[in-house]
Amino acid sequence: MKRVLSGIQPSGKLTLGNYLGALKHFVTMQDEFESYFMIVDLHAITTPQDPAALREQIESVATLFVAAGLNPEKSSIFLQSHVSAHAELGWLMTTMSYMGELERMTQFKDKSAGKESIPTGLFVYPTLMAADILLYNADFVPVGDDQKQHLELTRDLAERFNHRYGQTFHTPEPLIQKFGARIMSLDDASTKMSKSNPNEGSYVAMLDEPGKIRKKIKRATTDSEMRVHYDKTNKPEISNLMSIYAHCAGLTLEQIEQEFEGKGYGDFKKALAERVVEVLEPIQQRYEKLRASGDIYDILKLGAQRAEETAQQKLQEAKEKMGFLLPR
Ligand code: TYM
Repeated sequence: MKRVLSGIQPSGKLTLGNYLGALKHFVTMQDEFESYFMIVDLHAITTPQDPAALREQIESVATLFVAAGLNPEKSSIFLQSHVSAHAELGWLMTTMSYMGELERMTQFKDKSAGKESIPTGLFVYPTLMAADILLYNADFVPVGDDQKQHLELTRDLAERFNHRYGQTFHTPEPLIQKFGARIMSLDDASTKMSKSNPNEGSYVAMLDEPGKIRKKIKRATTDSEMRVHYDKTNKPEISNLMSIYAHCAGLTLEQIEQEFEGKGYGDFKKALAERVVEVLEPIQQRYEKLRASGDIYDILKLGAQRAEETAQQKLQEAKEKMGFLLPR
């Protein structure tokens, strides 16, 4: 059975972008593949985190994974920090990488831009991500568009290692949806919707209550043409909202254009808000129940046990190939 693996950082509230670009696809993929989905808490600390807030976020994101439909019987759901092989192979991968290729990562460039002191963790972020993926011989990695470059680096590192030490790692394929892989901000369609944006009105958080979702969508930026028509170049704001609509309602862009022919943006935004609420409200209800039950700890324990077995095997294989003495 082919393997799928992916991860999400617990470094803020998960947004509708995380859901439509990643989490939603994890849920459909778990039926077809041997699945590993993790909360990448070691990646979250590449930017400073308050310990209490981090603890809360990790539990919240793990709970959201399950509330969104990940099933612990089908998928291994775990915390990256619970499987120590990640940090260890991360170091081995760092020694396989070059400064030049890490400097070229656009996420690094964006996150370090204008900073006087750049955390080293931000710089080596992609080598830890490569380790995450390579430990499991993942065939497919479902991610949003912004992670494409990190996946390319992962493939390069795998090939470099295999070339130097003999076949060890499988080269993974990114799985990037044609549509919805880049949900843009509600206030600025030139930047992606992001949980780290200080302007709360720029994103819908998965746990925003319905009233808040309606308000944010009502205030979303649009153009002055008042025609619901998909044109990414000339009408990026309305095109972004249409992609969200299409995803949430399971409709094509043409069907949406037909539905709103002759109607204005006010009607469209109202309908969009209801579609988004329809998707998020049941997740929020399951979230509340699961969070209150405390069951997530058992789910994470089971997930880590399964992940550990697979990951340790690959780590030992890599260490042996590199010339480390394994304990006898
Ligand atoms: P992170 O936590 O930034 O985002 C998690 C996933 O959500 C996708 N995403 C989006 N998709 C569409 N539109 C958006 N506006 C949007 N914002 C975020 C991201 O592309 C991602 O798929 N480096 C990763 C975490 C990671 C990882 C891994 C992923 C660590 N190790 C191993 C896969 C495999 C990250 O920062 O994702």
